[in-house]
Amino acid sequence: MAIQLDIVETPDKVAQKAASLVADFIQAKPNAVLGLATGSTPVPTYRRLVQMHHKNGLSLAHITTFNLDEYVGLPESHGQSYRFFMDQNLFQHIDIPPEQTHVPNGLAPDPDQECKAFESKIQSAGGVDLWLLGIGHNGHIAFNEPGSSSDSRTRLINIAPETITANSRFFDHLSQVPRQALTVGIATILEARKILLLATGKDKALAVSKAVNGPISANWPASALQHHPDCTFILDQEAASLMTFTNST
Ligand code: GLP
Repeated sequence: MAIQLDIVETPDKVAQKAASLVADFIQAKPNAVLGLATGSTPVPTYRRLVQMHHKNGLSLAHITTFNLDEYVGLPESHGQSYRFFMDQNLFQHIDIPPEQTHVPNGLAPDPDQECKAFESKIQSAGGVDLWLLGIGHNGHIAFNEPGSSSDSRTRLINIAPETITANSRFFDHLSQVPRQALTVGIATILEARKILLLATGKDKALAVSKAVNGPISANWPASALQHHPDCTFILDQEAASLMTFTNST
């Protein structure tokens, strides 16, 4: 199955496109279940959704959200926890009741139990309608690092050294970056009814090309998205610059 491509000029246009797709989706299904991502890539998309809420009356009061992942060992109040990120960048600025937002608890005393409970909550909500994703330089989606199989579920994972280095830009020192995370699995993501992956910048071009053009391989976890019947990558020109095009893409 081919991943669909939507290539626009700039990161700002990626955000514009993604935000309007998400807003249209919510308008068509006000009680949609959305899967959300952290990282710097979706920040401008969240900013636009907040603007649409304030200026265009977009209501997110009835959606339910599930986040992809969380660092192990960081409390919610930590400036780099993904719960904190979501509150700061989106949830605090819209009308979603906090109890409708779900981020794995990185301080759970029993991580396996927390992961199972997270999967159950997704099932109880009726599954994810639309999952918004970013991509790591090594092709990870959520924290499914290279080696993660297509049938992986929500679990505790060791973060790859190259991801620790990439994410250290948000911390004062490399040593402060957590070494483990709770992440939804690739199978969990593939169960979403629709997937939108956003990528911007030259440094994502290799991972994007491996995901789209490469063989499906655990070495490039995002390549598993080729299994999905309704997956679109919204890319800026730089992120799309290493792909090869065939008639079907
Ligand atoms: C983190 C997150 C991923 C995200 C990736 C890319 O490692 N776990 O979900 O896609 O970073 O982040 P950025 O968008 O900042 O490049």
